[in-house]
Amino acid sequence: MNIGIIVLSKTGNTLLVAQRIADALSAAGHTASIARVTVAADKPGAPGSHQLVDAPDPTPYDAVVFGAPVWGFSLADVMKTYLAQIPALGGKKTVCFVTQHFPKPWMGGNRALRQMREACAQKTANVTLTGVINWSAPTREAQIAELVAHAAAL
Ligand SMILES: Cc1cc2nc3c(=O)[nH]c(=O)nc-3n(C[C@H](O)[C@H](O)[C@H](O)COP(=O)(O)O)c2cc1C
Repeated sequence: MNIGIIVLSKTGNTLLVAQRIADALSAAGHTASIARVTVAADKPGAPGSHQLVDAPDPTPYDAVVFGAPVWGFSLADVMKTYLAQIPALGGKKTVCFVTQHFPKPWMGGNRALRQMREACAQKTANVTLTGVINWSAPTREAQIAELVAHAAAL
């Protein structure tokens, strides 16, 4: 399968997880490529004001992985802007994950993931796997490994 891993990442955490997923998917025989969502002016907390510079088109991929950070106990607003403007996904198999600093998913991660799922549902995605990575948790590596293994097995 041709799989697109589309991520927003400001400081590299989400990108690092995306790379791990890409490596695992490649090792499983898929074609996996990472594409980044970028903005002209990075102004977290300014809803609706983001001008996307890179808004990767998910259409060519057989399946997609969306990854983004948690900002202000919510899905990063830039990712909301991105997901709102992509074309319909037509039941495409989709994985969603978020990374956050705080150690527990209920500290914003679950909410962000719910928002991401809802945005994907609006675009008729078939979300089959989700994950929260808590960067400051001692279990971070295990969380990443679990997400990567499940994504590679889909
Ligand atoms: C503006 C801003 C707001 C943030 N708000 C939260 C938050 O509410 N909860 C949290 O756990 N981490 C928060 N973080 C930390 C990021 O979610 C975390 O470091 C994430 O892994 C960064 O991903 P990235 O390196 O891919 O950008 C925030 C970071 C930024 C820049």
